[in-house]
Amino acid sequence: MFNLSERDPTMKIAISILFVLCSVSAHAATPADLLAGYRTEAAQQTPGFQPSAQRGAEFYARRLGNSAKMPSCSSCHTESPTQAGRHVVTDKSIKPLAPTANVERFTDPAKVEKWFKRNCTEVVGRECSSAEKADFLAHLTGAR
Ligand code: HEC
Repeated sequence: MFNLSERDPTMKIAISILFVLCSVSAHAATPADLLAGYRTEAAQQTPGFQPSAQRGAEFYARRLGNSAKMPSCSSCHTESPTQAGRHVVTDKSIKPLAPTANVERFTDPAKVEKWFKRNCTEVVGRECSSAEKADFLAHLTGAR
């Protein structure tokens, strides 16, 4: 009975599927998980750091001046992160960035990091700090 998995091929398959599911879910996250992660990182640099949706909203709309074509995050993502956006260069449509309007947002840490890196470098002229990312997410997760 204890060696069921060795003998029973159905059980072997079931266990393999379970392993695959576990490794997939290890990469999935919720916007709250990501916010908590950035908050922890930021608090290591600035003890007592608390994410601020207000600062995040200001950052989202701020004209940072690094690029004339895309002065702010809102240039492509529109003034409201709950709305679909449009890429200022390619004119391709972009789904809403706020998780309240698009459940796929901020569930894939690798994707989130990739786009923070790319967009911050273009718009801000450097990578965003953990504090800026935490504020940005605090704004987006509360956006209605
Ligand atoms: C030039 C247009 C453009 C600008 C400006 C822009 N973005 Fe984006 N952003 C995109 C595109 C394109 C994607 C990827 C396509 C998609 O996911 O819909 C994206 C995706 C993202 C994502 C991925 C979120 C997820 O979970 O899917 C984040 C985070 C993000 N942007 C943050 C920012 C921040 C922060 C700024 C301002 C510093 C910014 N973006 C400015 C075009 C832009």
